[in-house]
Amino acid sequence: RMLKYAAFALLVAMIGISEASMQNVTVKGIAICDKHRLPNIVVELWEKDTISKNDVLASTHTDAGGEFILRGGNSELFKIKPYIKIHHECKTSSNVNQTCTRKSKYDIPSEFIWNADTKGEDRKIYYMNYINLDIFTEGDKELCEKKK
Ligand SMILES: *[C@@H]1O[C@H](CO)[C@@H](O)[C@H](O)[C@H]1NC(C)=O
Ligand SMILES: *[C@@H]1O[C@H](CO)[C@@H](O)[C@H](O)[C@H]1NC(C)=O
Repeated sequence: RMLKYAAFALLVAMIGISEASMQNVTVKGIAICDKHRLPNIVVELWEKDTISKNDVLASTHTDAGGEFILRGGNSELFKIKPYIKIHHECKTSSNVNQTCTRKSKYDIPSEFIWNADTKGEDRKIYYMNYINLDIFTEGDKELCEKKK
C-alpha cells in the first residue's frame, strides 16, 4: 500500500515538473440586445475540461455601457479551451406566466491564449466588440421559472 502511494506521489510530481504552464486570456466586449447596450449582466470566463468538470476562471458584470473585461487563466498540461458565458434576458420566452434567462456561450480562439511569462505587448486581448445577444449561439441554453 505504501509503495502504491509512493508511485502515485511520484507520478503527480512528474506531471507537475513537465509542461504544466500558466495560460492566460483577456477578453473585452460590449453586450447588446435589440440595438441597446445591456448593463449589469453576468459575464463569466470558463474553461472546458475534458476530464473533470468545467471551471469558472473569472466572473464580472457589464458596466452601465454594457462593457466588460475579463482576465483569467489556469495552469494545465494541455492547451486550455476557454469560452465566455453571458447570462441575460434578451429574446427569451418570458411571458405573463414565466420568467426566463438565457446563457450564451462564445469560444475564445486559441491564438488569444498566452503563457504567463509573456511580456507586455505580446499579451493578446480578444476584442469581441459588439456581442449581439439577439442571435442564438450553438451553446445557447434557456431556463424558465413559473411566476407565482
Ligand atoms: C494568469 O491567470 C492567473 C489565474 O487567474 C492569475 O493568477 C495570474 O496573475 C495571471 N497572470 C498574468 C500575467 O496575468
Ligand atoms: C398563462 O397561463 C394561463 C392560465 O394557465 C393561460 O390561459 C395562458 O394562455 C398563459 N399565457 C401564456 C402566454 O402562455
